[in-house]
Amino acid sequence: MKPRILVTREVFDETLDYLGGHCEVESNQQDIPLEPGELARRLAGRQGLMCCLTDRVGAKLLAAAPQLKVVANIAVGFNNIDLAACTSRGIMATNTSGVLDDSTADLAWTLMLGAARRITELERRVRNGEWTGWRLKQWLGVDVHHATLGIFGMGRIGQAIARRAGGFDMRVIYHNRKRLSPEIERRVNAAFVSREELLRQADFIVLQVPYSPETHHMIGAAELKQMKRSAVLINSTRGGVVDDAALVAALKDGTIRAAGLDVFENEPKLNPGFLGLDNVVLAPHVGSSTEATRRAMAMTAAKNLVAALSGETPPNLLNPDARSR
Ligand code: DGY
Repeated sequence: MKPRILVTREVFDETLDYLGGHCEVESNQQDIPLEPGELARRLAGRQGLMCCLTDRVGAKLLAAAPQLKVVANIAVGFNNIDLAACTSRGIMATNTSGVLDDSTADLAWTLMLGAARRITELERRVRNGEWTGWRLKQWLGVDVHHATLGIFGMGRIGQAIARRAGGFDMRVIYHNRKRLSPEIERRVNAAFVSREELLRQADFIVLQVPYSPETHHMIGAAELKQMKRSAVLINSTRGGVVDDAALVAALKDGTIRAAGLDVFENEPKLNPGFLGLDNVVLAPHVGSSTEATRRAMAMTAAKNLVAALSGETPPNLLNPDARSR
Protein backbone atom coordinates (compact mmCIF):
# COMPACT_ATOMS: atom_id res chain seq x y z
CA MET A 1 0.00 0.00 0.00
CA LYS A 2 1.29 3.47 -0.90
CA PRO A 3 1.95 5.86 1.99
CA ARG A 4 -0.59 8.64 2.38
CA ILE A 5 0.60 12.23 2.25
CA LEU A 6 -0.74 15.78 2.39
CA VAL A 7 0.52 18.64 0.21
CA THR A 8 -0.63 21.88 1.84
CA ARG A 9 -0.28 24.37 -1.03
CA GLU A 10 -0.31 24.52 -4.79
CA VAL A 11 2.72 22.91 -6.44
CA PHE A 12 3.72 22.19 -10.03
CA ASP A 13 2.13 19.39 -12.05
CA GLU A 14 5.41 17.51 -12.37
CA THR A 15 5.78 17.54 -8.57
CA LEU A 16 2.33 16.07 -8.10
CA ASP A 17 2.98 13.48 -10.84
CA TYR A 18 6.19 12.40 -9.11
CA LEU A 19 4.52 12.23 -5.71
CA GLY A 20 1.56 10.34 -7.18
CA GLY A 21 3.96 7.65 -8.44
CA HIS A 22 5.02 6.91 -4.87
CA CYS A 23 2.24 8.03 -2.57
CA GLU A 24 -1.46 8.46 -2.20
CA VAL A 25 -1.65 12.23 -2.39
CA GLU A 26 -4.14 14.62 -0.91
CA SER A 27 -3.33 18.16 -1.98
CA ASN A 28 -4.67 21.62 -1.45
CA GLN A 29 -4.33 22.86 -5.00
CA GLN A 30 -6.63 25.83 -4.32
CA ASP A 31 -3.54 27.42 -2.82
CA ILE A 32 -5.36 28.99 0.11
CA PRO A 33 -3.39 28.38 3.31
CA LEU A 34 -5.11 25.79 5.49
CA GLU A 35 -6.28 27.03 8.89
CA PRO A 36 -4.57 25.15 11.77
CA GLY A 37 -7.69 23.09 12.57
CA GLU A 38 -8.22 22.18 8.92
CA LEU A 39 -4.55 21.30 8.52
CA ALA A 40 -4.72 18.97 11.53
CA ARG A 41 -7.92 17.38 10.24
CA ARG A 42 -6.47 16.73 6.77
CA LEU A 43 -3.16 15.49 8.13
CA ALA A 44 -4.67 12.90 10.45
CA GLY A 45 -3.68 9.36 9.42
CA ARG A 46 -1.04 10.53 6.92
CA GLN A 47 2.63 9.56 6.93
CA GLY A 48 4.00 12.51 4.98
CA LEU A 49 3.50 16.27 4.97
CA MET A 50 4.78 18.56 2.25
CA CYS A 51 4.40 22.12 3.46
CA CYS A 52 5.51 25.71 3.04
CA LEU A 53 6.75 28.50 5.26
CA THR A 54 3.14 29.67 5.61
CA ASP A 55 2.23 26.46 7.49
CA ARG A 56 2.98 26.36 11.19
CA VAL A 57 4.12 22.83 12.07
CA GLY A 58 4.18 22.85 15.86
CA ALA A 59 3.88 20.30 18.66
CA LYS A 60 0.07 20.48 18.66
CA LEU A 61 -0.21 19.63 14.97
CA LEU A 62 2.32 16.80 15.30
CA ALA A 63 0.41 15.34 18.24
CA ALA A 64 -2.68 15.19 16.02
CA ALA A 65 -0.79 13.16 13.40
CA PRO A 66 0.68 10.13 15.20
CA GLN A 67 1.48 8.27 11.94
CA LEU A 68 3.54 11.13 10.54
CA LYS A 69 7.09 10.18 9.53
CA VAL A 70 8.31 13.16 7.52
CA VAL A 71 7.74 16.90 7.16
CA ALA A 72 9.19 18.19 3.87
CA ASN A 73 9.34 21.98 3.79
CA ILE A 74 9.42 23.72 0.40
CA ALA A 75 11.93 26.30 1.63
CA VAL A 76 15.44 26.46 2.93
CA GLY A 77 14.28 28.34 6.05
CA PHE A 78 12.44 26.13 8.52
CA ASN A 79 11.45 28.46 11.35
CA ASN A 80 7.83 27.44 10.68
CA ILE A 81 8.66 23.93 11.93
CA ASP A 82 9.25 22.95 15.55
CA LEU A 83 12.31 20.84 14.88
CA ALA A 84 12.73 19.66 18.47
CA ALA A 85 9.12 18.44 18.54
CA CYS A 86 9.68 16.57 15.25
CA THR A 87 12.85 14.95 16.58
CA SER A 88 11.29 13.86 19.85
CA ARG A 89 8.50 12.15 17.87
CA GLY A 90 10.96 10.53 15.44
CA ILE A 91 9.62 12.63 12.57
CA MET A 92 12.18 13.57 9.94
CA ALA A 93 12.16 17.18 8.78
CA THR A 94 13.76 18.37 5.55
CA ASN A 95 14.34 21.64 3.70
CA THR A 96 15.42 22.60 0.18
CA SER A 97 18.96 23.68 0.86
CA GLY A 98 21.16 23.92 -2.20
CA VAL A 99 18.72 24.74 -4.98
CA LEU A 100 17.92 28.37 -4.27
CA ASP A 101 21.24 29.94 -3.28
CA ASP A 102 21.89 31.71 -6.55
CA SER A 103 18.35 32.99 -7.11
CA THR A 104 18.17 34.33 -3.56
CA ALA A 105 21.60 35.93 -3.92
CA ASP A 106 20.48 37.56 -7.17
CA LEU A 107 17.46 39.03 -5.39
CA ALA A 108 19.61 40.40 -2.56
CA TRP A 109 21.71 42.10 -5.22
CA THR A 110 18.59 43.39 -6.96
CA LEU A 111 17.57 45.05 -3.70
CA MET A 112 21.06 46.44 -3.14
CA LEU A 113 21.33 47.98 -6.58
CA GLY A 114 17.70 49.12 -6.49
CA ALA A 115 18.09 50.84 -3.12
CA ALA A 116 21.45 52.39 -4.04
CA ARG A 117 20.15 53.86 -7.28
CA ARG A 118 16.63 54.58 -5.94
CA ILE A 119 15.15 52.65 -8.81
CA THR A 120 11.62 52.01 -7.53
CA GLU A 121 11.25 55.60 -6.30
CA LEU A 122 12.46 56.93 -9.64
CA GLU A 123 10.24 54.59 -11.61
CA ARG A 124 7.28 56.00 -9.67
CA ARG A 125 8.44 59.55 -10.46
CA VAL A 126 8.72 58.77 -14.16
CA ARG A 127 5.24 57.26 -14.21
CA ASN A 128 3.85 60.28 -12.30
CA GLY A 129 5.18 62.63 -14.98
CA GLU A 130 7.71 64.25 -12.62
CA TRP A 131 10.62 63.81 -15.03
CA THR A 132 10.89 67.02 -17.00
CA GLY A 133 14.45 66.62 -18.26
CA TRP A 134 18.08 65.81 -17.41
CA ARG A 135 19.79 67.74 -14.60
CA LEU A 136 23.28 67.31 -13.17
CA LYS A 137 22.18 66.98 -9.55
CA GLN A 138 19.08 65.00 -10.27
CA TRP A 139 18.01 62.21 -7.93
CA LEU A 140 21.53 61.19 -6.95
CA GLY A 141 22.18 57.69 -5.71
CA VAL A 142 25.26 56.04 -4.22
CA ASP A 143 27.84 53.77 -5.81
CA VAL A 144 27.82 50.07 -5.15
CA HIS A 145 31.15 49.49 -6.89
CA HIS A 146 34.21 49.86 -4.64
CA ALA A 147 32.00 50.11 -1.54
CA THR A 148 32.21 47.82 1.50
CA LEU A 149 29.69 45.01 1.64
CA GLY A 150 28.96 43.53 5.08
CA ILE A 151 27.18 40.18 5.26
CA PHE A 152 25.61 38.79 8.43
CA GLY A 153 25.23 35.04 7.95
CA MET A 154 27.79 33.42 5.69
CA GLY A 155 26.07 30.16 4.82
CA ARG A 156 25.53 29.07 1.23
CA ILE A 157 23.40 32.10 0.28
CA GLY A 158 25.68 34.57 2.07
CA GLN A 159 28.64 33.12 0.18
CA ALA A 160 26.78 33.38 -3.14
CA ILE A 161 26.10 37.06 -2.36
CA ALA A 162 29.78 37.59 -1.52
CA ARG A 163 30.98 35.91 -4.73
CA ARG A 164 28.96 38.36 -6.81
CA ALA A 165 30.70 41.31 -5.14
CA GLY A 166 33.92 40.59 -7.05
CA GLY A 167 32.33 41.93 -10.21
CA PHE A 168 31.70 45.23 -8.44
CA ASP A 169 35.22 45.54 -6.98
CA MET A 170 33.77 45.62 -3.49
CA ARG A 171 35.52 44.91 -0.22
CA VAL A 172 33.58 42.17 1.57
CA ILE A 173 33.43 41.71 5.33
CA TYR A 174 31.23 39.23 7.16
CA HIS A 175 30.12 38.08 10.56
CA ASN A 176 28.95 34.57 11.29
CA ARG A 177 28.45 32.40 14.37
CA LYS A 178 31.36 30.34 13.12
CA ARG A 179 34.27 31.74 11.16
CA LEU A 180 34.69 30.20 7.69
CA SER A 181 37.79 28.17 6.89
CA PRO A 182 40.67 30.20 5.42
CA GLU A 183 40.12 28.36 2.13
CA ILE A 184 36.46 29.44 1.85
CA GLU A 185 37.32 32.97 2.99
CA ARG A 186 39.84 33.14 0.15
CA ARG A 187 37.37 31.71 -2.34
CA VAL A 188 34.66 34.26 -1.52
CA ASN A 189 37.23 36.99 -0.84
CA ALA A 190 35.67 38.01 2.47
CA ALA A 191 37.21 39.00 5.80
CA PHE A 192 35.75 38.00 9.16
CA VAL A 193 35.00 40.94 11.49
CA SER A 194 33.14 41.42 14.75
CA ARG A 195 29.46 42.29 14.74
CA GLU A 196 30.27 45.87 15.80
CA GLU A 197 32.95 46.32 13.15
CA LEU A 198 30.57 45.15 10.49
CA LEU A 199 27.87 47.56 11.64
CA ARG A 200 30.36 50.45 11.72
CA GLN A 201 32.29 49.77 8.50
CA ALA A 202 29.83 48.46 5.91
CA ASP A 203 28.23 50.67 3.27
CA PHE A 204 25.81 47.87 2.39
CA ILE A 205 24.66 45.44 5.06
CA VAL A 206 22.97 42.23 3.94
CA LEU A 207 21.18 40.02 6.46
CA GLN A 208 21.26 36.32 5.63
CA VAL A 209 21.06 34.69 9.06
CA PRO A 210 18.32 32.14 9.75
CA TYR A 211 15.47 33.40 11.91
CA SER A 212 15.44 32.02 15.47
CA PRO A 213 14.87 33.35 19.01
CA GLU A 214 18.59 34.33 18.98
CA THR A 215 18.30 36.38 15.78
CA HIS A 216 14.92 37.96 16.62
CA HIS A 217 15.39 41.75 16.24
CA MET A 218 19.15 41.39 15.86
CA ILE A 219 18.89 44.70 14.01
CA GLY A 220 17.02 47.23 16.14
CA ALA A 221 17.35 50.91 17.03
CA ALA A 222 20.74 50.47 18.73
CA GLU A 223 22.29 48.58 15.80
CA LEU A 224 20.87 51.02 13.24
CA LYS A 225 22.53 53.87 15.16
CA GLN A 226 25.89 52.11 14.93
CA MET A 227 25.67 52.01 11.11
CA LYS A 228 26.98 54.77 8.84
CA ARG A 229 24.39 57.41 8.04
CA SER A 230 25.00 56.49 4.40
CA ALA A 231 24.41 52.76 5.03
CA VAL A 232 21.94 50.69 3.02
CA LEU A 233 20.36 47.72 4.80
CA ILE A 234 19.13 44.65 2.91
CA ASN A 235 16.94 42.00 4.52
CA SER A 236 16.63 39.01 2.21
CA THR A 237 16.28 36.33 4.90
CA ARG A 238 13.29 36.45 7.28
CA GLY A 239 11.03 39.02 8.83
CA GLY A 240 11.66 39.39 12.54
CA VAL A 241 15.43 39.54 12.14
CA VAL A 242 14.89 43.31 11.85
CA ASP A 243 12.75 45.37 14.20
CA ASP A 244 10.63 46.89 11.44
CA ALA A 245 9.28 49.75 13.59
CA ALA A 246 12.84 50.77 14.44
CA LEU A 247 13.81 50.56 10.77
CA VAL A 248 10.89 52.75 9.68
CA ALA A 249 12.01 55.36 12.24
CA ALA A 250 15.66 55.13 11.10
CA LEU A 251 14.72 55.54 7.43
CA LYS A 252 12.49 58.50 8.29
CA ASP A 253 15.00 60.44 10.37
CA GLY A 254 18.06 59.63 8.23
CA THR A 255 19.82 57.37 10.74
CA ILE A 256 20.61 55.25 7.66
CA ARG A 257 20.22 56.10 4.02
CA ALA A 258 18.03 53.36 2.57
CA ALA A 259 16.84 49.78 2.77
CA GLY A 260 15.84 46.96 0.47
CA LEU A 261 13.44 44.43 1.96
CA ASP A 262 12.07 41.14 0.70
CA VAL A 263 10.73 39.99 4.08
CA PHE A 264 8.79 41.60 6.91
CA GLU A 265 7.51 41.06 10.41
CA ASN A 266 3.94 39.73 10.18
CA GLU A 267 4.09 39.51 6.38
CA PRO A 268 2.10 39.99 4.24
CA LYS A 269 0.83 42.76 6.58
CA LEU A 270 3.85 45.00 6.56
CA ASN A 271 4.41 47.99 8.82
CA PRO A 272 2.43 50.81 7.09
CA GLY A 273 5.31 53.19 7.84
CA PHE A 274 7.28 51.66 4.96
CA LEU A 275 4.63 52.55 2.42
CA GLY A 276 5.12 56.30 2.71
CA LEU A 277 8.91 56.16 2.38
CA ASP A 278 10.83 56.71 -0.85
CA ASN A 279 14.09 55.33 0.52
CA VAL A 280 12.99 51.72 0.82
CA VAL A 281 12.64 49.15 -1.95
CA LEU A 282 9.90 46.66 -1.09
CA ALA A 283 9.53 43.16 -2.51
CA PRO A 284 6.93 40.52 -1.58
CA HIS A 285 9.15 37.63 -0.32
CA VAL A 286 10.28 36.57 -3.77
CA GLY A 287 13.94 35.76 -3.05
CA SER A 288 13.72 32.30 -4.57
CA SER A 289 10.91 33.05 -6.95
CA THR A 290 12.16 32.22 -10.41
CA GLU A 291 10.41 29.60 -12.50
CA ALA A 292 13.38 27.23 -12.47
CA THR A 293 14.15 27.62 -8.79
CA ARG A 294 10.61 27.24 -7.51
CA ARG A 295 10.23 24.09 -9.65
CA ALA A 296 13.51 22.78 -8.26
CA MET A 297 12.43 23.57 -4.68
CA ALA A 298 9.14 21.71 -5.04
CA MET A 299 10.84 18.69 -6.61
CA THR A 300 13.57 18.68 -3.97
CA ALA A 301 10.95 18.65 -1.22
CA ALA A 302 9.08 15.84 -3.00
CA LYS A 303 12.25 13.75 -3.31
CA ASN A 304 13.09 14.31 0.35
CA LEU A 305 9.62 13.17 1.31
CA VAL A 306 9.66 10.05 -0.88
CA ALA A 307 13.16 9.11 0.30
CA ALA A 308 12.07 9.36 3.94
CA LEU A 309 8.99 7.23 3.33
CA SER A 310 11.07 4.63 1.45
CA GLY A 311 13.31 4.12 4.47
CA GLU A 312 16.21 6.10 3.01
CA THR A 313 17.97 9.10 4.50
CA PRO A 314 16.54 12.15 2.73
CA PRO A 315 19.24 14.34 1.13
CA ASN A 316 18.22 17.45 3.09
CA LEU A 317 17.54 15.90 6.48
CA LEU A 318 17.59 18.57 9.21
CA ASN A 319 17.32 16.33 12.26
CA PRO A 320 19.36 13.12 11.84
CA ASP A 321 18.52 12.22 15.46
CA ALA A 322 14.92 11.59 14.42
CA ARG A 323 16.03 8.49 12.50
CA SER A 324 17.26 6.74 15.61
CA ARG A 325 13.93 7.12 17.42
C1 DGY B 1 13.15 29.97 1.80
O1 DGY B 1 13.44 29.04 1.05
O2 DGY B 1 13.35 29.96 3.01
C2 DGY B 1 12.53 31.14 1.14
O3 DGY B 1 12.31 32.19 2.00
C3 DGY B 1 11.26 30.71 0.47
O4 DGY B 1 11.03 31.53 -0.58
